[in-house]
Amino acid sequence: MTDSAVPTITLNDGRTIPQLGFGVFQIEPADTKAATLKALEVGYRHIDTAEMYGNEKEVGEAIAESGIDRDEIFVTSKLNNGFHDHDDALTAFDGTLEALGLDHIDLFLIHWPLPGVGDFVETWKALEEIYASGRSRSIGVSNFQEHHLRRLANETTVTPAVNQIEVHPYLTQEPLRAFGAEHGIATEAWSPIAQGLVLDDPTIVRIAENVGKSPAQVTLRWHIQRGDIIFPKSVTESRVKENFDIFDFELSDIDMTDISMRNKDERTGPNPDEFNYVPA
Ligand SMILES: NC(=O)c1ccc[n+]([C@@H]2O[C@H](COP(=O)([O-])OP(=O)(O)OC[C@H]3O[C@@H](n4cnc5c(N)ncnc54)[C@H](OP(=O)(O)O)[C@@H]3O)[C@@H](O)[C@H]2O)c1
Repeated sequence: MTDSAVPTITLNDGRTIPQLGFGVFQIEPADTKAATLKALEVGYRHIDTAEMYGNEKEVGEAIAESGIDRDEIFVTSKLNNGFHDHDDALTAFDGTLEALGLDHIDLFLIHWPLPGVGDFVETWKALEEIYASGRSRSIGVSNFQEHHLRRLANETTVTPAVNQIEVHPYLTQEPLRAFGAEHGIATEAWSPIAQGLVLDDPTIVRIAENVGKSPAQVTLRWHIQRGDIIFPKSVTESRVKENFDIFDFELSDIDMTDISMRNKDERTGPNPDEFNYVPA
């Protein structure tokens, strides 16, 4: 994979992932192809989608229409909540490839642990088979807490390449990120700007004024310097460009600490230990 200014992270299976990507959660299917094509035109080479988002097909269409080599684009999708079973997970993965119109993806994740639904350990064993087949080059999990990761470590073979969790300045997730680092599991930070919630934060606004960047750029840069993988979502062309323009400045150690100290352990999304939603 060749890429521009965007750094890559090497995963525990030796594959590389662009540290900045484009997320498509809450982009209407009708808008997804155009939004993804725009992101690819701006320079993004990493797309984060999910069966749950209902727009895998449109992401696939954008990739096909972009004319960019398939190998240049890192594609992630996720197993929806209704498939927490070994065989159902294999079938659902086939559906994901079909919707995307691809013969392989780069990363496939269990979207939520769903402690009250099915069995994420048996489900993970299906992902191990998908990984062995090469149809997903890497496999990982999302919204897993330390105790879920420990169960996988004790009962299965392949260590997840990533854990995609909610992280932003109001939810810095230090212990879970440290656990991941210790076990070779890269952290992907979802809702990196907390869906806009942190952009009026006085500390972030002050630092943004000092460095001559926007609050969103400062927040995204904070994630990059912490070493996490991010994929902000936007359907606004100017913001898609703004979010990509974060590699020409650096935050000082003091700025990094000041932002981290805004932590309030405040989630915008559900607590994974309590979330058992399965779509009808
Ligand atoms: N694994 C999971 O359970 C999970 C959960 C949530 C999200 N995710 C992934 O993480 C990605 C990002 O998270 P997210 O979409 O929840 O939230 P986000 O990226 O933190 O924020 C997106 C929101 O911020 C706005 N925005 C984007 N850039 C901006 C900028 N530069 N200035 C001001 N506002 C800006 C967008 O508005 P406009 O679009 O109107 O411009 C949108 O309302 C998702 O797309 C998805 O791929 C995963």
